[in-house]
Amino acid sequence: MSTHYQNLLISRPDPAVLLITLNRPKALNALNKALITEIHQALDQAENDPEIGSIVLTGSERAFAAGADIKEMKDKKCTPAISHEKMILTNDVISVAEVYKSDFLHDWSRITRMRKPTIAAVSGYALGGGCELAMMCDIILASPTAVFGQPEINLGIIPGAGGTQRLTHAIGKSRAMELILTGRDITAQMAEAWGLVSRVVGDGEGEVVKEAVQVASTIASKGQIAIQAAKEAVNASYQLQLEEGLRLERRLFHSLFATKDQKEGMTAFAEKRKPVFTHL
Ligand code: HXC
Repeated sequence: MSTHYQNLLISRPDPAVLLITLNRPKALNALNKALITEIHQALDQAENDPEIGSIVLTGSERAFAAGADIKEMKDKKCTPAISHEKMILTNDVISVAEVYKSDFLHDWSRITRMRKPTIAAVSGYALGGGCELAMMCDIILASPTAVFGQPEINLGIIPGAGGTQRLTHAIGKSRAMELILTGRDITAQMAEAWGLVSRVVGDGEGEVVKEAVQVASTIASKGQIAIQAAKEAVNASYQLQLEEGLRLERRLFHSLFATKDQKEGMTAFAEKRKPVFTHL
């Protein structure tokens, strides 16, 4: 991948896996606009590269990401009603309309629109927007050092990139309320017990990334049409009533019988050999 990034390290630990490492170590990978923009560029490239089957997103040992960049956000002001005239005069107060038009935070959700599966490999702090970014991924693996939390309440705000919704879906109302209303963090072990992460992995440096790459390689080795259909169906369970979700699942299931990968997968089973998927 030829793009040069200022805030990311990009590698291909397997030709079919893109590893994106957040790289603002001095700021504990605080998510500023430049970093978010680069994540989206890397995701766009991954989505458009037919050799890449899945993506791993990680940070450093000390921090996956310690949240949105507070220093960048701190001077944002917003008044419910303000005349255009006053805005020009004072030049330091922007209206709700201006914040709305700038679509502040909207573009954070790019990762949730990926068709290819995404895995967050979390070590250290995953706080605020960092926890929200991890929750936008399809799978979260955590190292034993990981710390998850939504401390926005301590800053006089609330989570703004999905924390109130995705955390509640993941761990339930009472636990989500406790974390969001107190601003307290939880350990990796608690996050595993509560179902926020699928597993706590390893105890050495880099172990969680290695394991995430393994999982990503396994995913990338399957037929990609079926992988993407499975991801679409699971994600639909957040949006649809059970009946509609089951109908969508059935329709996707039926449609996979039109793929070469289905013929290959079932023929390979009958012939007692490994399938060779062509993603067709
Ligand atoms: C900007 C940050 C930052 C952040 C850390 N830093 N978190 N800068 N935004 N979110 C910077 C510090 O200012 C400091 O820079 C350097 O990183 C190291 O941090 P320390 O505080 O010195 O480290 P430590 O004492 O180990 O404490 C680690 C920490 C603490 C517990 C993670 O940094 C912390 O509480 N950070 C803020 C966490 C937070 O509130 N996150 C939510 C943000 S709001 P200098 O230059 O001083 O060395 C949010 C809203 C999302 O995410 C809304 C949707 C987008």
